[in-house]
Amino acid sequence: MAVDVENLNFSYKNGFSVQDLSLKIEENSIYALTGNNGSGKTTLLKLLVGLLKPKSGTIKIFDEVLTRNRKQLWKVRQKIGFLFQNPDDQLFAPTIEEDVGFGARNLKLEQEEVKERVEWALKAVNLFDYKEYSPFNLSWGQKKRASLAGLLVMNPKLLILDEPFANLDFKSIYSHLEIFEKLRKEERMTILFTTHNLFFVENWAEKILVLNSGKGIFEGDPKEGLNHPEVKKILGSYDEIHKLIQKNQEKD
Ligand SMILES: Nc1ncnc2c1ncn2[C@@H]1O[C@H](COP(=O)(O)OP(=O)(O)O)[C@@H](O)[C@H]1O
Ligand SMILES: [Mg+2]
Repeated sequence: MAVDVENLNFSYKNGFSVQDLSLKIEENSIYALTGNNGSGKTTLLKLLVGLLKPKSGTIKIFDEVLTRNRKQLWKVRQKIGFLFQNPDDQLFAPTIEEDVGFGARNLKLEQEEVKERVEWALKAVNLFDYKEYSPFNLSWGQKKRASLAGLLVMNPKLLILDEPFANLDFKSIYSHLEIFEKLRKEERMTILFTTHNLFFVENWAEKILVLNSGKGIFEGDPKEGLNHPEVKKILGSYDEIHKLIQKNQEKD
C-alpha cells in the first residue's frame, strides 16, 4: 500500500474535526479525495504529510508509520511530493531554475546530479525553455508546473496534488493530465489528488473517498460512489444542473 490510514481523528481549535477516517491507496494508482468546499480535503492532506498532528489514529506511507519523531518524519516525507493548491505558496526564488533546484540542493547532492535532476524535471513539465524566467511572471498553469518540477527533483514516490485542475483552462488541464499520467507510467508514481469537480472524480480517479464535514461517507469505485444515494445528495449531480437550466429555458 502507498497509503494506509486507520481511524484518524483531528480537530482544529475552532471546532472543525476529522472523524475516524480510514483509507487505503494502492501503489501506482490514482486516488481522489472529494467533497464540497470545507469538507476537510486539504486538512486530510496536511495530516498525511505531517503538517498537522492527529489526535489519534495511524498513518502509514509505503508501510512506514508517520510519527512525530523528526528523523522518521523526514524519512517518510522524502517519499512525498505535496503540490499546494496555490503555487504562490511554493515558489520563491528569482529564477525557475533556482527554485526547482532548491529541494535537490537541500538533499546535499553533488552539483552535477542537481543539474541533471533540474534539467530532467523542467523537461518533464515542459518548462525547460523558461528556466531563466522569474516564477512570478508565469501564468497560473506554468506556476503550477514549476512547483511540480520543484517536487520532482526530489524523486517522490507519492504525488499529493491539492486541487490540481482548479483555475486551469481546458488546454492546460490536458497538458497537466498528460504530465501526471507520464509520471505514473514511467516513474511509477502513485497519485493522490483532491477535487470537487465530478468530471475528474468519475473519469480520472480509480478509487475515491467522499468527505462530508470531516467524515468519510464512501470509499471505493468512483461510478458506484457517484450513484450512492447519500453521496448524490451531498455532491449533487450534472443532471440537477441540467434540469434547472432546461426548466428556465422553457419559461422564456
Ligand atoms: N488552520 C485552520 N484553523 C482552523 N480551521 C481551519 C483551518 N484550516 C481549515 N479550517 C476549517 O476546516 C474546515 C475544512 O477545511 P479544508 O480542509 O480546507 O476543506 P476543503 O479542502 O475540503 O475545502 C473548514 O471549515 C475550514 O474553515
Ligand atoms: Mg481545499
